[in-house]
Amino acid sequence: MKIIQITDNHLGAPDERIGGLSPINRLEKCVEDINSSHSDAAFCVFTGDITDAGKPEAYQAFAKILDTMTPPKFLLVGNHDHREQMCSVFPELDRDENGFIQGYLRRDEGDFLFLDTLDPGYHWGRYCEPRRRWLSNRLKEAGDRPVYLFMHHPPFDVGLPSLDILGLQDKEAFADILSCHKNIRHLFFGHVHRPIAGSWLGIPFTTMKGTNHAVAFDFSAPGYVPYSHESPTYAVILIDHSRVLVHFHDYLDQSKIVINDDGDRVFALTGKKI
Ligand SMILES: [Fe+2]
Repeated sequence: MKIIQITDNHLGAPDERIGGLSPINRLEKCVEDINSSHSDAAFCVFTGDITDAGKPEAYQAFAKILDTMTPPKFLLVGNHDHREQMCSVFPELDRDENGFIQGYLRRDEGDFLFLDTLDPGYHWGRYCEPRRRWLSNRLKEAGDRPVYLFMHHPPFDVGLPSLDILGLQDKEAFADILSCHKNIRHLFFGHVHRPIAGSWLGIPFTTMKGTNHAVAFDFSAPGYVPYSHESPTYAVILIDHSRVLVHFHDYLDQSKIVINDDGDRVFALTGKKI
């Protein structure tokens, strides 16, 4: 099974630049790359901050780009999004009984849960008691089936002070729920605009750069979030019974494929040294 993760697109109005870059242009190139190389993906997940300020025209621009995309899509809200504006453009989005944009997909490979961590008016995230109840019920229903979690905010500190103050505010309560279930196979999130992998509570996790600006690799506490223009990324996730693989692709990178002086590739496909 192949899945695509895309995150932190930060779209504005058409022609609007965010962080000195064109988010619409960079997302269009991302979708072109996916359509040409990964149209066989089972689905594509956007892990939040689809827009930079939750404006209707930004969601409309996003919808226009999505129309050109081959695989089915799942959309999550981030702190830069606006729940109602997003649902007005995408009325088909799954919402739970309390109106949060949360849903799930059951496949042979396991249950894929898409969480809503938005706390309107704040850049940090929130996972309140009604949302925790929804998650707890989904995990109980999953039983022994593998579970894959997708969310915008990291539910733990990632070691970057400028972002750690903007993480999930209900970390302990969230951790308590996950600790009761031993079937979570991988956690995917956005928000930090940097490539990070590791494990938390024994759960493997990955996050990555967005399609617009990145956050600078800065372990000091600058008192603001430092943006950078590093190459944008999307992830290709491969899942089977024994593996979860996450490949990060910097789709605008123009690096040459290395060949030797005779024009042959350095490694022959036989594995034999040449
Ligand atoms: Fe973001």
